[in-house]
Amino acid sequence: MVVGGGGREHALAWAFRRDDPSSEVFCAPGNPGTAQLGSNIPIPADDLDGLVRAAGQYGIDLTVVGPEVPLAAGLADRLTASGHPVFGPTEAGARIEASKAFAKDIMSRAGVPTSQSATFNNADEALAYVAAHAEPLVVKASGLAAGKGAVVCATRAEAEDAVRTMMVDDRFGAAGQVVVVEQFLEGEECSILALTDGKECQLLPVSQDHKRLGEGDVGPNTGGMGAYSPVSLITDDLLARIDRDILRPTLRALAQEGAPYTGVLYAGLMIDTTGAPSVVEFNCRLGDPEAQVVLPLVTGGLLDCLRSIANGGPPTSLATTGGASVTTVLAAKGYPDAPEKGAAITIPDDLPAGVTVFHAGTRRDGDGVLRVNGGRVLAVTAVAETFPEAQRLSRESADRIEFEGKVFRRDIGWREAERRGQRG
Ligand code: GLY
Repeated sequence: MVVGGGGREHALAWAFRRDDPSSEVFCAPGNPGTAQLGSNIPIPADDLDGLVRAAGQYGIDLTVVGPEVPLAAGLADRLTASGHPVFGPTEAGARIEASKAFAKDIMSRAGVPTSQSATFNNADEALAYVAAHAEPLVVKASGLAAGKGAVVCATRAEAEDAVRTMMVDDRFGAAGQVVVVEQFLEGEECSILALTDGKECQLLPVSQDHKRLGEGDVGPNTGGMGAYSPVSLITDDLLARIDRDILRPTLRALAQEGAPYTGVLYAGLMIDTTGAPSVVEFNCRLGDPEAQVVLPLVTGGLLDCLRSIANGGPPTSLATTGGASVTTVLAAKGYPDAPEKGAAITIPDDLPAGVTVFHAGTRRDGDGVLRVNGGRVLAVTAVAETFPEAQRLSRESADRIEFEGKVFRRDIGWREAERRGQRG
């Protein structure tokens, strides 16, 4: 059973069926994409009672939790207590994402490189800190804020506004009552997704997300407008350093805190101009759209690895292709502030080999018409032997899918293209 109903969850269901075509996949609640691969169960991802009941009712032998909200609410603990193997951290472990203050504390104890920061539960103290520190600063709501709780502030005035919005105006409710103010890190970001039993890590291919709405990385922050993998900036030596200096110490510190961690540990890193990695954030789940770009590169062993971890074993090895993957997100008109729903979607049935369209914000109406039903609508992933080919196939296929008001970036992977001197 895959818990969730976005593009990440469609990619998980797709990867499981590819890994083991005889497997029966249930998605709760799923979407029109997952409905083509298995059975959707109409239970929302935050209905813990309903999900635990469904695990029993449908004889689920492995639950994989997509989003952070049910993990932070204790879904993995509830499933484990009722005898259902689950891939995903406990409520205590999920604090690595659900409390930025906790994550900073863990990193400080573990000596993990991250930006200088301070945590506040009092607005006046936070404002005094802002006044005493050089911009740019990042102000983060400590709790879960649906990806909108981190504000990069070029000036101190912006940082003061962000503190007031969170702590005085209660923009994010309880999630913003504690804030972390940190120094802005310069460099290039990448997403490390580690499948872990709390000691050993099996890494998925490294990817880079594009969080800004506009081409060239301008405009408002979004959940992610596309991604590519692998990232040539991340060499094997650098990965070994990330494992040694970031992943392992963090897992050890979590265990020492009484929060032994299993599931995916997502380290969002900044690589500075000297090649040194620092942690921007940890998440307790796969990234979206990172899942849609990296899972198609895994050609074997995924279910075995997740099953092993869910049953208390070590992460087992994965087979991956030698090629490249690029995913382009198609968003609705008005995204991210006020996405418009309802437009009819046409997906050509002759997209090239290697292209997979993952559903996120879609619905299928009674008349069979597929319609826009959320901000990020589809993710168009292309896997090819070379990066420029994957980039070209993803962009051209994104172009051919139609719905009114479609918004997408044609430059996904531009940093990689610049590094290589090749654009698809
Ligand atoms: N793509 C960023 C995230 O999933 O958090």
